[in-house]
Formats: sequence, structure tokens, C-alpha cells
Amino acid sequence: MRRKIIAGNWKMNQTPKEAEALIKDLKGKVDSVDSDVVFCVPYVDLKLAVELLEGTSIAVGAQNVHAMDKGAYTGEISALMLKEIGVKYVIIGHSERRQYFGETDESVNEKVKKSLSVGLIPIICVGESIVQRKQGVTIDFVRVQTRIALLGVPAEDAQRLVIAYEPIWAIGTGLTATSGQAEEVCAGIRRFLAEIYDEETASKIRIQYGGSVSGANARELFEMPNIDGGLVGGASLKPEFEKIVNYAPR
Ligand code: 13P
Repeated sequence: MRRKIIAGNWKMNQTPKEAEALIKDLKGKVDSVDSDVVFCVPYVDLKLAVELLEGTSIAVGAQNVHAMDKGAYTGEISALMLKEIGVKYVIIGHSERRQYFGETDESVNEKVKKSLSVGLIPIICVGESIVQRKQGVTIDFVRVQTRIALLGVPAEDAQRLVIAYEPIWAIGTGLTATSGQAEEVCAGIRRFLAEIYDEETASKIRIQYGGSVSGANARELFEMPNIDGGLVGGASLKPEFEKIVNYAPR
């Protein structure tokens, strides 16, 4: 049985002062629940988040990482730097990074391998545009993204990582994929993982859904057999996040 994982992607929100207030407000409400909970915060909030969340079950994640160990890469942050300050997860290949910052399937793959090598858990984002959905190529597209992201990643490492299926048309739009649409693609990703690895490995990899997850739709989405939680944007900054994390009655 896969443990659910619900991660908040804060994107470029919350100064350190604002982050402190939000973490203090949320932490008691989303701690020690039946799912893994992760706050993926801006770089400048990471250390503070790690300190404030010490002693809780809530983990901290970054939103990007560089593929090299160190060197002349002005403005970048390495996997080892994240690891050393206590970061556990890292979002890789978010569609906003692909769209605005030139992230490619190949750079995603390099970042995934580097992160795994230092013990960080990648949350790899994949997902189609509205054009691709209308063309009927969603599964094909997501398979290619997944295949390239995982090139050279052995099965024992793959079991640790998380894949987030985030249809681009559902991000920040209030338009959520139906639980049926989301389940169809997440199940397709799992079948593909079984093809490139094996059934057992595929059954261990957690697949999240992301895209306008809210307190109102979390339960229906997360109860689908191949959806192992969510990557939550806007609602992760609101009191509503408590409702999403506690989507199942306790
Ligand atoms: P929203 O939940 O705001 O649609 O964002 C989803 C997302 O991009 C999470 O990574």
C-alpha cells in the first residue's frame, strides 16, 4: 500500500517573514496525519522552514536544483547544498520552469539523477498542454516526458521518487481535471513504469495529481486507485491546505 504524499508548492510566494507566519499557522494542523506532507518553499525560506518544522512529521522541499555539484553557475543551487541544510524533496521539471526557464526533458533527467545521488527525493512533474489534450496525445506525451526523466535511473532508485501529473491547463486556472481524467493518466503512467521497470517497482512509485487541487475536490481525486496524493499550488498557501491534507475523515 502506497502512503499518500501531499506537497504544497509555494512557487514564488512568501518572504521569510511571511513564510514564518504561514508555517507557524499551518504546522499544527497538518502534522502527524496519515499522509506524508511536504512544504516546497522558495530557496530563501528553506533553512527557516527546516528549523521551524524540526520535530514534526512535515518535510521540506525545494522547487528546483542544479544538475552540477558546484562551479561557475551563477545564481544556481546544488543538490548537496539542499541536502546539507535538511531539505528532503525537490520538485523537478515543473511546467512553469519548462515554460519560462528553458527546462527540458534532458535537464530534468540530469537533475533527477543528481538529486537521487545525494539522497534527495525528486518530485518529477509531467503533464500535457490543452492543445495536446485536444489532439488526443496526452498519454503519448506524458510517456515521453516520463521516459526521458528516468533514463539511467535504476529500479531501486526509481522506487523512492515521486511523479506529479500536472495537466498544464489545470494549473492555477481553477479548472481541475476530473478524477476520471486524472486517474486515467496516472494509471497510464503506472503501466508505463511497469514496462520500463517491472510491476513491483511500478507499484511502489507514488504518483501525485496537481492542478487546482482544493478542499472541495481533494478527496475525490486522492481516493482514485492510482493517485497517491497531490501537488498543491495556490491552496497550499491558505487555511484550506488543512482540509486537503485531512481529506479523509480521521
Ligand atoms: P494550482 O494548485 O495553483 O493549480 O497549482 C498547481 C501546481 O502547479 C503545483 O505544482
